Amino acid sequence: MYGKIAAFGLLAVANARPAVTVPLSDVVHSTVASVASTAMSAATSTDAAIASYSTGAGIGATGTGTAGGAASTGAASYGAKFPLSNGFPNVQVPSSQLDTIEQQAHGTLPGPNGAPPTGLHDDTINSLAFIAFNELFEVSFFSTLVADISASKPGFTAGDIAPADRDTVLANLKVIVAQEELHALNALGAFNANTGKTIEPCTYKFPVKDFKSAIALAQTFTDVVLGTLPDIQTVAATAGDIGLIRPVGSVIGQEGEQNGFFRYFQGKVPSELPFLTASARNFAFNAILQNFIVTCPSQTLDFLEKPAGGIPLNETGVLTVLTKGLALEDVTAKFSFSTINPSQTKSYYESKKSSLGFITYVNQQNAPVSIKIMPDDIINISESAVTFKASFPGQSKFLNGLTIAALTRTGDHADVDSVAADTLFGPGLIEIN
Ligand SMILES: *[C@@H]1O[C@H](CO)[C@@H](O)[C@H](O)[C@H]1NC(C)=O
Ligand SMILES: *[C@@H]1O[C@H](CO)[C@@H](O)[C@H](O)[C@H]1NC(C)=O
Repeated sequence: MYGKIAAFGLLAVANARPAVTVPLSDVVHSTVASVASTAMSAATSTDAAIASYSTGAGIGATGTGTAGGAASTGAASYGAKFPLSNGFPNVQVPSSQLDTIEQQAHGTLPGPNGAPPTGLHDDTINSLAFIAFNELFEVSFFSTLVADISASKPGFTAGDIAPADRDTVLANLKVIVAQEELHALNALGAFNANTGKTIEPCTYKFPVKDFKSAIALAQTFTDVVLGTLPDIQTVAATAGDIGLIRPVGSVIGQEGEQNGFFRYFQGKVPSELPFLTASARNFAFNAILQNFIVTCPSQTLDFLEKPAGGIPLNETGVLTVLTKGLALEDVTAKFSFSTINPSQTKSYYESKKSSLGFITYVNQQNAPVSIKIMPDDIINISESAVTFKASFPGQSKFLNGLTIAALTRTGDHADVDSVAADTLFGPGLIEIN
């Protein structure tokens, strides 16, 4: 009965090097020169420790000069603007526009007669809002990638895509764009049917400089999506909306197909792990917000952060993984954190330095691992970033695939939900193999 609800869609790929770390924050963070926007300024964290420093300058504005990586020099591609030339996201159900998208997607929106389910619980509606927020970002990302390849922009030519065949890659990406459009329309339609309200898209930018960095980024955010959809199933099951579980499961499989193809195409094992790394809505929300959003209509963020009912999502500060090339080895890694308003970082540190918390790693379906941050671990304090070190037990804990790092208040967590709810700064995303 809730067959209209689908979810994210993406593909993936990655860095062709084996045993290489592709922390999202390294790839993208420092190119987000100013995520600040009037819309985001309105959104305040509900975390007391952070909220008092959240004066609305936005995330990642200037505080990450130490982040380095390709991002600090690479050109940012601006995301495709909505509405797209096919009218998306303003597409009626049914309509000839929708028919065209379904042909391109190799399939249809779920459910009979296109009627979205109504009567969903608050937290499920909040999940729909998050799915729509995520899907709109993905449509913008993949539309931009298709446009860049179609135009043979520098970095996106047949030579840059080789040894893969450029026309095959382009054709596959066009299918994926249409599939993502259907995922988005599905969530937007179900949200509208339950609330009478419309989620407007944000504007986006993507710190990719060429095809390979775009694919690496796509793999990382696909991994986060693959971890987050089971969280959405859990929230729906807890609320009693079990009709959501099957269609979301169908999208988890779909995402996995995309990820496997692109991993293989990049020389990686197609199937990443026996049990994929768990994530949570709040981690996915902050990863998008911190890295890809230029501006959002305030109402769009309010649907997520100040919903009419149920659990709100919360903004967290930024955690950047500074050490490149983390592998399955036990090493000391460097990180930095910045408050939501980066200029408040030093004063936040001064007030908290006697007890800064823990670095917590979430990997696969295992118990999270927490490491206490000691005063000696602090490397540098500037107005906008605090740099510190912490051990990374890559070998002893076998942290293969995606690891989500977070700076948490406490250090004893049973699962990813507990980590997400306890997170002050994060997520920092680490990819091995
Ligand atoms: C600390 O960070 C500031 C600002 O990024 C930088 O200018 C300074 O050189 C750093 N100091 C050390 C010891 O790394
Ligand atoms: C956001 O913060 C509120 C207030 O502390 C809390 O009740 C809620 O569970 C948090 N949301 C998430 C997704 O952790």
